[in-house]
Amino acid sequence: MKKILFAASECVPFIKTGGLADVVGSLPKCFDKRYFDVRVIIPKYLCMSKEYTDKMEYIDSFYMDIGNDNKYVGVFKMEHEGVTFYFVDNEFYFSGAKPYGDLLWDLEKFIYFSKAVLSVLPVIGFQPDVIHCHDWQTGLIPVFLKERFHDGEFFRNMKSVMTIHNLKFQGVWDVETVRTLSGLPDYFFTPDKLEAYKDGNLLKGGLVFADAITTVSYTYAEEIKMPFYGEGLDGLLRARAHDLRGIVNGIDYDEYNPATDKFIVNPYNARDFRKEKVKNKLALQEELGLDRDEKKMMIGIVSRLTDQKGFDLIAYVMDELCRDNVQIVILGTGEERYENMFRHFDWKYANKVSANIYYSEALSHKIYAASDAFLMPSLFEPCGLSQLMALHYGTLPIVRETGGLKDTVEPYNEYESTGTGFSFMNYNAHEMLGCIRNAERIYYDKKREWNKMVDRAMAADFSWQVSALKYQELYDWLIG
Ligand code: ADP
Ligand code: GLC
Repeated sequence: MKKILFAASECVPFIKTGGLADVVGSLPKCFDKRYFDVRVIIPKYLCMSKEYTDKMEYIDSFYMDIGNDNKYVGVFKMEHEGVTFYFVDNEFYFSGAKPYGDLLWDLEKFIYFSKAVLSVLPVIGFQPDVIHCHDWQTGLIPVFLKERFHDGEFFRNMKSVMTIHNLKFQGVWDVETVRTLSGLPDYFFTPDKLEAYKDGNLLKGGLVFADAITTVSYTYAEEIKMPFYGEGLDGLLRARAHDLRGIVNGIDYDEYNPATDKFIVNPYNARDFRKEKVKNKLALQEELGLDRDEKKMMIGIVSRLTDQKGFDLIAYVMDELCRDNVQIVILGTGEERYENMFRHFDWKYANKVSANIYYSEALSHKIYAASDAFLMPSLFEPCGLSQLMALHYGTLPIVRETGGLKDTVEPYNEYESTGTGFSFMNYNAHEMLGCIRNAERIYYDKKREWNKMVDRAMAADFSWQVSALKYQELYDWLIG
C-alpha cells in the first residue's frame, strides 16, 4: 500500500475560499483504494462549522520548537466519505474569522503549519511515502523535509510533490523575517534556494526542494515557464521543466450534478434539459427580482472578484453589454472596486443585473443551473473549476483562452458544429464583447445549434477519473 499525505490550507467540506478546497477535498476520494492510502492534513480553524468540529477526535498534543519559540501542536482526526483527515490545532494561529487575512500573520501561521505537518507524523503513526503539498502555504514542507528532518530514519525516504494552484501567491516577506520565523539557517536564503529578488519566498522553497512539481492544467504548465505568467519564477520553472507536469483538475460529480442537486428547484439531466432547465431560470429571476422571461439569455458569474478573473474587461464594456437583450447574475466577493462596480450596475439596470456580493454555496448552484451562459474572461487561470461546473449543468462557458480554460472549453465551430463554449484570445474588452455577442446570436437565432452544444457540454467528462490516474502514475514514479 502506497501512503500519500495531502497538506493544504483549505479543503471541502471543512473550509473553503476557492477552488483549492474543492480539489483537496474531492481528489483524495478518487484514488484506487487497493493500492493507495491517501490522507489529508489541514489546520483546525475556529471558523469551521461546528457540524464538523464536533465530530473531530482528539489524538494527541505536544510542543514543537520553531523559530525562537516553542509552540503548542494539537492533532485531531476524522473520517469523512472514506478518507482520513487530520487537523492541526493551535488557537493562537487558527482563530481568525477567515483562513487568510493579514499577509505577515498568514506567513507566520503557515510556516508554523508546515513544520507541524512533519512533526505530527510520528505522533499519529502515519509514515507517508509522498507528501503532496498545495500552494505557498505548504511551501516550506519540502524544505524542512530535505534538511531538518532528513537525518531521522522516519523521514529519510519521504518524497514531496509541490502543486501550484496559483503562482500569483508565493508567501513573500523580507529574508530576515522568514529566516527568524522558520528557524532555517542562513545558507537557505540564497537565490538558488529561498531567496527571490532579495526577499524570502516560501513557494520558491517548495519549488526548489520538492521532488516533483505539478500544476493544474497542461496549458498553465506551459504558460508559467514564460515571463508573462511566470510571476518572477519562470526561470526556476524552466530550469525544473523536466520535473513539472500539468494535470487538469476534475470536479466531484456527486456534488455538482443537475439531476440530484438539492439546491436547485427543478433537477434536470442531459435528456430533459430542453424543457426542464429553464424552470430554474424562472425561479432565479423571481428570487433575484429580475424580469421573469424564460426566453431572455441569462449570463452567470460566480467568482472571487479579483484581477485574475478579468473583471477589468467586464467593467469596461458593462454599459454596452447591458444594452443587449441579456440578464447578468453575479455572485462573488473580493476587491472593493469590483464589488462596487457590480453594485452600481445592479442599481443602474435593476431588472437586468443582479449583483450578489457575498458567499453562498446554494446560490452558486442555482446560478450554474439557471444561466444559459457562464462568463469567465480570466487574465490567467491555472485551471478553473467554475467552467467545469457550468459545463456539467449545460451552461455554456464564455472564456478567455488561457490556462485550464483553454484545456477544458472547446470553442464553438459553426461550420463543423463542434465545441462546448465560446472563447476569445486577447485580453481585450471588445474582443470579449464580440465573443459574448456571438454567443447571443447563436442563442437567439440558432437555438438548435445552441442545444446541441449543451448536449456536448453535458456529455464532456471532467470527473477526477483520468486525472487521479495521472497522479497515481506520478506517485508510482517517485516511490519507484
Ligand atoms: P479560484 O479557485 O481561482 O477561485 P475556481 O474556478 O477554481 O477559481 O474555483 C472557484 C470555486 O469557488 C468554485 O467552486 C465556485 O463555485 C466557488 N465560488 C467562488 N465564489 C463564490 C461565492 N461567492 N459563493 C459561492 N461559491 C463561490
Ligand atoms: C486556484 C486557481 C484556479 C484553480 C484552483 C484549483 O485557485 O485560481 O484556477 O482551479 O486553484 O486548482
